[in-house]
Amino acid sequence: MINFEALFKLSYGLYIVSSGDISKGNGFISNTFFQVTAEPARFASCCNKLNYTAELIQKTGAFSVSVIHQDTSADIIGRFGYKSGSDFDKMEGMKVRYGETGVPIVLNDAIAFLECKVIQKIDVGTHWLFIGELIQAELLDDTKEALTYLYYRQVKKGLAPKNAPTYIDKSKLETRESTIKAAKYKCSVCGYVYDDAVEKIRFIDLPSDWICPICGSEKEDFIEL
Ligand SMILES: Cc1cc2nc3c(=O)[nH]c(=O)nc-3n(C[C@H](O)[C@H](O)[C@H](O)COP(=O)(O)O)c2cc1C
Repeated sequence: MINFEALFKLSYGLYIVSSGDISKGNGFISNTFFQVTAEPARFASCCNKLNYTAELIQKTGAFSVSVIHQDTSADIIGRFGYKSGSDFDKMEGMKVRYGETGVPIVLNDAIAFLECKVIQKIDVGTHWLFIGELIQAELLDDTKEALTYLYYRQVKKGLAPKNAPTYIDKSKLETRESTIKAAKYKCSVCGYVYDDAVEKIRFIDLPSDWICPICGSEKEDFIEL
């Protein structure tokens, strides 16, 4: 038996993993970035093969990781975590520095950053696991707390989309009694709240292709409050 609720007890951070160069840079929100060895300092980043950033990491052989703080804006999470850079320039208007390898480093809401050179690429199915050796790291702000995946889920009421390695289909989670009474659902991208009590149709009865009237996010991007 697998109780998928148990997987929510695992701990992760939350980062912006970026790659590319000055002409075309891109990044994605990731909770699966972690250190794997101390000497030399090596790190792993698990990146969906369909992410536009995966293409850039393979092209440049390097990536940067911005450690974002707890009050990171929904704009930043939405831009890097729910949209693909194949459709628009994610770095436009961002505060960006370029690393020793030329990869962009997002500084918005960042309290530290790391830069890694890829030394190995492991095929784990839907995702690549990029192993990177640390070539640069800098502390930007020691006064703020780093955002964790737990804080993002519990306090910010955020979700991970389908292509995140830790995505869990809602049908696999135990259904709660509250789904039958009027409830409120919040868009994890823009914060819009759908309130069953004031709408004609209950949220759970909306068609699966229904989208957020404010930002166009999918129904599955909503979290019950
Ligand atoms: C909380 C959160 C965690 C995520 N973690 C990962 C991750 O670890 N690996 C991954 O490939 N995608 C992850 N994603 C999804 C990507 O950020 C998302 O698909 C992004 O739009 C890809 O951007 P790109 O196509 O421009 O590279 C996560 C998204 C969110 C919101």
